[in-house]
Amino acid sequence: MILPDSAFIHPAGVHRNAVEQFLQKAVALLIEEMGQAETRSPLPTLEAMPSTTLPLQGLNEADLLAQLRSILRQSMNAAHPGFMGHMDSIPTTASIVGDLMAAALNNNMLSVEMSPVFSRLEPLLLRQIAQRFGLADQADGVLVSGGSLGNLQAIAVARNTHFPVLEKGLAGLQKPPVVFASEVAHTSIQKAAMVLGLGSQGVVSVPANANSQMDPELLRQSIIRAQEAGQAPFCVVATAGTTVTGNVDPLEAIADIAQEFGLWLHVDASYGGAVVFSPDHCHLLKGIEQADSVTFNPQKWLYVTKVCAMVLFRDGSAWRQHFQIAAPYMGNAGPWHNLGESSIQGTRHADVLKLWLSLQHLGEAGYAEIIGHNFQITEQFVAAVRDRPFLHLASQPQMNLVCFRSEPTTLPPEQWDDWNLKLQKHLLSEGKTFLSLPFYRGQRWLKAVLLNPFTERSHLDTLFASLDEFHGAIGAKRR
Ligand SMILES: Cc1ncc(COP(=O)(O)O)c(C=O)c1O
Repeated sequence: MILPDSAFIHPAGVHRNAVEQFLQKAVALLIEEMGQAETRSPLPTLEAMPSTTLPLQGLNEADLLAQLRSILRQSMNAAHPGFMGHMDSIPTTASIVGDLMAAALNNNMLSVEMSPVFSRLEPLLLRQIAQRFGLADQADGVLVSGGSLGNLQAIAVARNTHFPVLEKGLAGLQKPPVVFASEVAHTSIQKAAMVLGLGSQGVVSVPANANSQMDPELLRQSIIRAQEAGQAPFCVVATAGTTVTGNVDPLEAIADIAQEFGLWLHVDASYGGAVVFSPDHCHLLKGIEQADSVTFNPQKWLYVTKVCAMVLFRDGSAWRQHFQIAAPYMGNAGPWHNLGESSIQGTRHADVLKLWLSLQHLGEAGYAEIIGHNFQITEQFVAAVRDRPFLHLASQPQMNLVCFRSEPTTLPPEQWDDWNLKLQKHLLSEGKTFLSLPFYRGQRWLKAVLLNPFTERSHLDTLFASLDEFHGAIGAKRR
């Protein structure tokens, strides 16, 4: 027999020990390496890529595990408490287990008959989450592969609801449809417009205030200007937790304007939606209950393994009416829905299992505790920035993102971008902190996302001591 004994989990339990040992060794390796994530850099340097030569005969397990160890050690290390550069988090243990189980079952979210438990669990769970956001009783939704797809599907439904394009497409429209989003909204809104035949000019960029929030008065003026210019406004996208600074658009004021002009309101809460699980912070989302659709990514701040994102609709039946394409080759779903008929994706992994398992394992109180800790650490981070005259905030943080930059007066302003790049590299070279370096309002900034539940005061002290030492070299002093 050429096949290794552990090639498959045999349906009659043959070679059970071989399979069990392979899985156990893989899990042991995982726990050993992840359990010392803090000893590696948050962003390790790449030293050796695995061989891609297809072996004639499969490698033995020891060689495979050695290659896996090497891959683990060179990968982005989001578990490190100093990994702060992006909205990528350490995953819950439950979501790792959920992913493993879903992978082993290999069901298909395309239809109810191909995923009898998961095709029921997903809408049941998502309806509850929609209720939590305050959407109506008839709200419904679907999991998607990331926030970009969630935004695409929401804007597609908004477009199809507003214009008679479902069958005949855009060609018959007299006026070009336009959607409004803040200048700092995620780029997936422009991508969506591009895919939906609106063109990137189909997104009207509304200026944001100094705090990175959409200015409602400028939104109103933009809508009126678009109408006067012969365009057809149909949707406003507000963001709850912007990608670079984590700010929240004034949702209530934007909802009022959307209603006044009869526009669809989509809230991109890909990042910030998680605060709905924190009684102390859910007020930040006030106004989201008026949304027609919401995107929310548990893969970010709910610590669920990638991918796990959702799009929710205030009116589930209207969503289906304006989007669903029936697939006659699929079995009858009875009172349930073949989810592949009403989502952009067809075949889809059962991401609901890891989301459900994480929520069940940590509970409401567990999530509230972690989110509370994130806010506490962010407060300390912001205080440390404010304490240093050479550091400047890009906006007033509202969530657990701090976007700031160094502007030492001992250097000319034209050198500040380069200085921040050096600072980022210096922090990373010490192997303790990774901050990202977004380009924002024409300048380079440092971004910290205080997402890791294990980031403590001591990690901030290390970061700021290193930052002070680096600035000391050019004579920029602390207050
Ligand atoms: C506000 C916002 N919306 C949408 C997205 C896109 O999400 P994804 O990368 O999962 O497609 C992001 C990603 O960071 C985001 O920050």
